[in-house]
Amino acid sequence: MNVKTIRQDFPILRTGIIYFDNAASSLTPEPVLEKMMEFYHEYRANVERGVHRLSQKAGEEYANARSKVADLIHVKPEEVIMTKNTTEGINTVASGLAWQKGDRVVVTNIEHHSNLIVWLRLKKRYGVDVEVVRANSEGIFDVADFERAIDDRTKLVTVTHASNVLGAITPVAEIAAIAHERDALMLVDGAQSVPHIPLDVREIGCDFLAFSGHKMCGPTGIGVLYMREDLLDEVEPLCIGGGTIKDVGLDYYQLAQGPHRFEAGTPPIAEAIGLGAAVDYLQGIGMDAIRAHEARLIMKMYNEMVAIPKVTVYGPEPQRRVGILSFNIEGLNPHEVALALDVTAKIMIRSGAHCTLPLMKDVIRHPAGTVRASTYLYNTGEEVDKFLEGISELSASLT
Ligand code: ALA
Repeated sequence: MNVKTIRQDFPILRTGIIYFDNAASSLTPEPVLEKMMEFYHEYRANVERGVHRLSQKAGEEYANARSKVADLIHVKPEEVIMTKNTTEGINTVASGLAWQKGDRVVVTNIEHHSNLIVWLRLKKRYGVDVEVVRANSEGIFDVADFERAIDDRTKLVTVTHASNVLGAITPVAEIAAIAHERDALMLVDGAQSVPHIPLDVREIGCDFLAFSGHKMCGPTGIGVLYMREDLLDEVEPLCIGGGTIKDVGLDYYQLAQGPHRFEAGTPPIAEAIGLGAAVDYLQGIGMDAIRAHEARLIMKMYNEMVAIPKVTVYGPEPQRRVGILSFNIEGLNPHEVALALDVTAKIMIRSGAHCTLPLMKDVIRHPAGTVRASTYLYNTGEEVDKFLEGISELSASLT
């Protein structure tokens, strides 16, 4: 993997910035933007609504994007629903299953708000019981806790594959196996894993997997919900309308089968095509190579950060995480640290609660939040050095 060459595809990096805010959103490479421009320049038309050549070509490219995504996560194209983002995917599952009072959902205390409040709403609406499995202070689970929490009333288990704050990778395959033993469904929030690690849905054995395009070199406004084929007819779409039907009369409608059933109205066509190009881009480099590169970066970042005075690093050892590192500097508010790094060294990192207030309160017990650096394929060891230098200087300035 030649990072120097990869960096040429991201002109924004030529401005001298160091981008370590990849868990929030990645940068987008030129081939993805070119592919989206090709749509606007050459076959700008709606999909599945016309027999003319432009519509046919747009439809073909939209379908190709679906196939590329399917190939990336090892599922059938028919099981790939195009959404707006991870959040919409999770909401689709939450609103689409038939809930009854007393049904149970098992979640964890390290979830992003998007994978928590939708379930709390079900509690309010239908009397669904929301059972929370707790991670230890590093974000690591004891799988036996899932054995205890998942029972015959459990309809769904929903867990993030990688914490957006602690980087901790969760044993989703083991949890899915427990869920299935109890006849529960398993949803995986793949927002922080699909962009960074080789992922095979067949190995995880989940029934649903939600992720976002904008965190994986794709454009904003496009995401994916993988749904196991036999569930497609069972789950009620979040939104219905044009493109989702098989037949309509004045007093009835019949929904289509397959992913189209969930994609009401004109979809984000350019964005879907861009996501397909992003998948090509990532696969061209290789997900194994990307994972190995980020593992090296996070190892270096972690090992040196823990040695800097006044710095507290959260989360597990680097081998158990994706390229995410959250920390605090004693005596400084997280936003002060993030602002200082931007102003002094053009380093972009995120600060605050990262949409995980329960994790801040219940797991790391630091309600003011953390500073978070997150890596991707275009980051370098030199950038990590500059980041460490900036943190060391800040720390030293406080003594
Ligand atoms: N969920 C994204 C993050 O963690 C936005 O920053």
